[in-house]
Amino acid sequence: MSGVKERIDDLRRRKAKAEAGGGQKRIAAQHKKGKMTARERIEQLLDEDSFVEVDSLVEHRCRDFDMDRNIIPGDGVVCGHGTIDGRTVYCFAQDFTVYGGSLGEMHGLKICKILDMALKTGSPIIGLNDSGGARIQEGVASLGSYAEIFFRNVRASGVIPQISVIMGPCAGGAVYSPAITDFVVMVDQTSHMFITGPEVIKTVTNEEVSFEDLGGASTHSTKSGVTHFTANDDLDAIELVRDLIGMLPLNNLEKPPIIPTNDPHNRECDSLDDLVPNNPSTPYDIIEAIEGTLDEGAFLEVQSEFAGNIVIGFGRLGGQTVGVIGNQPKVLAGCLDIDASVKAARFVRFCDAFNIPLLTFVDVPGFLPGANQEWGGIIRHGAKLLYAYAEATVPKMTVITRKAYGGAYDVMSSKHIRGDYNVAWPTAQLAVMGAEGAVQIIHRRRIESAGDPEGERGRLIEDYEETFANPYRAAALGYIDDVIQPRETRSKLIKALGALLEKEESRPARKHGNIPL
Ligand code: HXC
Repeated sequence: MSGVKERIDDLRRRKAKAEAGGGQKRIAAQHKKGKMTARERIEQLLDEDSFVEVDSLVEHRCRDFDMDRNIIPGDGVVCGHGTIDGRTVYCFAQDFTVYGGSLGEMHGLKICKILDMALKTGSPIIGLNDSGGARIQEGVASLGSYAEIFFRNVRASGVIPQISVIMGPCAGGAVYSPAITDFVVMVDQTSHMFITGPEVIKTVTNEEVSFEDLGGASTHSTKSGVTHFTANDDLDAIELVRDLIGMLPLNNLEKPPIIPTNDPHNRECDSLDDLVPNNPSTPYDIIEAIEGTLDEGAFLEVQSEFAGNIVIGFGRLGGQTVGVIGNQPKVLAGCLDIDASVKAARFVRFCDAFNIPLLTFVDVPGFLPGANQEWGGIIRHGAKLLYAYAEATVPKMTVITRKAYGGAYDVMSSKHIRGDYNVAWPTAQLAVMGAEGAVQIIHRRRIESAGDPEGERGRLIEDYEETFANPYRAAALGYIDDVIQPRETRSKLIKALGALLEKEESRPARKHGNIPL
């Protein structure tokens, strides 16, 4: 090779080889499974013509198992940066057509380089995972690269948003990078996550379970809570990621983007006046309260199929992103249990790390009673939510719609753990417990010795409700800042948020706290 033209032709050939990945046959097999290729995914993820690829010419250094005769430039992962709605993000997409997307030494180091750049520039990182796991031919070198990735995921945690999209297999220790990142999106039917696969499980425990039942999107969205979003296909997953990125700041030193809204800030939420039923045991849908309050009713729910007794997600109030948490009376009467506590605690910590104000809707009869909950550790798991709220220094706004009972009253962003703007609807009841339970405990003897025990019980319940089943005792103590009409919720919250945006609050200097994990 001598002249410039020959050198340019040579470069073109090398780039073309990298772009061809594992070749047409394997690309066709990928399409047949309903999956896009790595490059197609990146093209959809990023704004048109914004992708800048790095390391397309990296090659593996493995000389065992004839790997020296099987070298594909790029080494099975496409890495680089681009923009989503004009904002910079870094991304990588594993290419299943090259060695099954398996992660060898250099493949892993490419991902590390991108993670380092994302952290250095304060930009979100999005990983599109589609991989057979550790590259078997490279042995411990691939394990080393995995650990280098895990280390960087931990270092970037709380500094830049990290999103993992699972678009194929993700097995063994490989699952721990997505698990450390902030959000996991799984594509229904074509993605799987597990530590040990069905064959190993059969050998070790004799259990028979299919790939889908063990680690499909439906399992991880309903049973394990590993995934935050389930997508119908690759494109759906990518659109979801673009929406999610639009809600978030690029890093922990920035505030989330403000998106002006045509929804009037002082809009009255007429339907909310009738939302809470007269009977305190009748359920209703807290999502109606959430959507009725947010800009244009737009609510991006997170983990919608897991621990339905608590609802979490993102929306906007007057253009400002807020993280919303709400007890859901439709499921387990809105009780806090282990899964709900852990689900909400991690969300609260994400929002706090990324300067996203918290809006909490409270209708909680307490922690879920039961031996299984106690043995499962509801004490330490419930404490996570308490810890997360108390530790959070972002603006915290709380709306008590109905029940705020017992320890759960304290936990759900109460004034005492530094809620900034806490209001209640007139239907709110702030008390140690509900009327029937309370009367049974404090008046048992009186009821038993009465001539008409049921009549006496009824009178005592009425008396208790008169005294405690309202928000005014708490208002008199300053434990809530106001009692508002439900229809006023949106306008009051937007005004309060406006006044809270520059809030500054600090906690004592320390290496880190010791959240009850
Ligand atoms: C090297 C691999 C590979 C791997 C797949 N391939 N997995 N090469 N290392 N781990 C290659 C295959 O040889 C094949 O190459 C191509 O990728 C596609 O694989 P197929 O088996 O033909 O595809 P499919 O039928 O779709 O099955 C996909 C699969 C299966 C389910 C992922 O390949 C599989 O079970 N692979 C092994 C998974 C595994 O046990 N990995 C280790 C997990 S433990 P050709 O050339 O024929 O196209 C782990 C530890 C991580 O990852 C530890 C981190 C700390």
